[in-house]
Amino acid sequence: SQADRDLLLSHVRDIPDWPQPGVTFKDITPLLRDPAGFATTVRLLSEAAVGHDVTSVVGIEARGFILGAPVAYHLDAGFVPVRKEGKLPAETSSASYALEYGQATIEVHRDAFMPGERVLIIDDVLATGGTVRATVDLVRAAGAEVVAVSVLMELGFLRGREKLADVPVSALLSL
Ligand code: PRP
Ligand code: MG
Repeated sequence: SQADRDLLLSHVRDIPDWPQPGVTFKDITPLLRDPAGFATTVRLLSEAAVGHDVTSVVGIEARGFILGAPVAYHLDAGFVPVRKEGKLPAETSSASYALEYGQATIEVHRDAFMPGERVLIIDDVLATGGTVRATVDLVRAAGAEVVAVSVLMELGFLRGREKLADVPVSALLSL
């Protein structure tokens, strides 16, 4: 509802010139520390999965962990971490994507999914879309089906959704 979205938005804080000059950072820590705000966020992110028979929720390090784990619990699904390079201990698959400067690499355990697994991907922000694009590709390469992507916030002016035409993406807030 609009009241839910207003509640979320009222707890997202703009930090000018962070992490670099000219960038306005969307800080969700006030939302996370507000009991109603956090609960509403988890509930609405979970609703994106209704009817998709999700068996596994992927959270993207680091802020996707904070949201993805309670969504997995809420959906009675398992939780799978997608982590930055070099953090996961067993055999991994990796995917690289472009950042403003250079490249980033993320990884998932090769045995993270059983055949037929139905995955919901969760992150806090969809910006240029590189992070979610790489995650979708990783999950598919690991043999699972991505049934939906659900994010708290989409920065529409960065057009990340254009990289994700092959998967349903929902955002609680579009900024
Ligand atoms: C931020 C944000 C998303 C990603 C979105 O994560 O949490 O994961 O960027 O950007 P994109 O759509 O342009 O790829 P960041 O890589 O800063 O790391 P963090 O979550 O560990 O803070
Ligand atoms: Mg992130």
